[in-house]
Amino acid sequence: MTDHLLKFDNVSVIFRIGGGLGLFGSERVVALKDVSFDIPDKPGISALVGESGSGKTTIARLIMGLLRPTSGTVLYKGKEIREWVETDKERFRREVQTVFQDPYGIYNPYYKVDRVLYLALQKLLHVNDSGQATSMIIDAMKTLGMRPEEVLGRYPHQLSGGERQRLMLVLSLLIKPRLLIADEPVSMIDASLRAIFLENLLDLKNKIGISCLYITHDLITANYVADEVLVLCHGRLVEAGRGEEVIREPLHPYTRLLVDSMLLPDPRARASIGASLIDVRKLSELKPEKGCVFRYRCPYAMKICEEREPLLIEAGGTRRVACYLYEGQAV
Ligand SMILES: Nc1ncnc2c1ncn2[C@@H]1O[C@H](COP(=O)(O)OP(=O)(O)O)[C@@H](O)[C@H]1O
Ligand SMILES: [Mg+2]
Repeated sequence: MTDHLLKFDNVSVIFRIGGGLGLFGSERVVALKDVSFDIPDKPGISALVGESGSGKTTIARLIMGLLRPTSGTVLYKGKEIREWVETDKERFRREVQTVFQDPYGIYNPYYKVDRVLYLALQKLLHVNDSGQATSMIIDAMKTLGMRPEEVLGRYPHQLSGGERQRLMLVLSLLIKPRLLIADEPVSMIDASLRAIFLENLLDLKNKIGISCLYITHDLITANYVADEVLVLCHGRLVEAGRGEEVIREPLHPYTRLLVDSMLLPDPRARASIGASLIDVRKLSELKPEKGCVFRYRCPYAMKICEEREPLLIEAGGTRRVACYLYEGQAV
């Protein structure tokens, strides 16, 4: 037995783009480099935070078995994801569920949502009685504070983005996965529905003991739901620890930048903190080839940061940080 539900062990993902005919050479994109973390086998929400392009969706795709690591291993309950998909796919799909940014794509536009939910219950739980399925769906909707009469009987396009997202959580409540992967689930829904969705996510943790990897670029929502926070910068895990500690006292300058941006939503105020969040298109220009990936934007960058990449070290309790500002780095 293992005490980890999910374990990333030194995982790197390198994409090669272009140069198919060898005419222009191919470019390597290091989407993840030596990423190690785990999600314990107990109810809880781990938030994976980082700017756009930092490798968050790549992590989600690895967990779902849609992508294999270039090196390193990804284990679910001690067994490689690839093995789950090859030998026990049905159980894996039932235990590890996903909520996408906009789940519109999974809804068949010609089916009413009742039918979409019924088909999912039939496939994953072998419920073959539509009457029984309907009453299960109604109960689950009520548990999450949705009004079945306002949603059932409609086609997917007749629902709001927020309602479609919450229906994914209704499905989770019914299927009771062990691990829920939510990749930017609230980024396309408005603020009022966002809070309700996050409450529902907490309900799933508290009522059915779910573990969740909640992926977001937004530390405010992470702060609201997360027990643990994992901070990703240019494909590197730069900080990890208990949610309230990481947010109250961020160690890595990149995490400080994220926290300051959360506290100061006004860009003019942010300009005073020495570094700033930047446009996605400029990210690759701001990523050094060598040394610490954050050093071009770091107000504390030192000589050593140019030479060698800092390792993720223990920083007391469950805290880990990859930065030369902290002791224990072999220099
Ligand atoms: N299939 C792919 N081919 C080439 N590059 C990719 C592919 N998928 C992602 N990338 C690159 O990997 C990096 C991380 O992407 P992604 O995981 O989608 O980041 P995030 O979800 O944090 O925005 C980005 O630089 C992105 O352009
Ligand atoms: Mg993404």
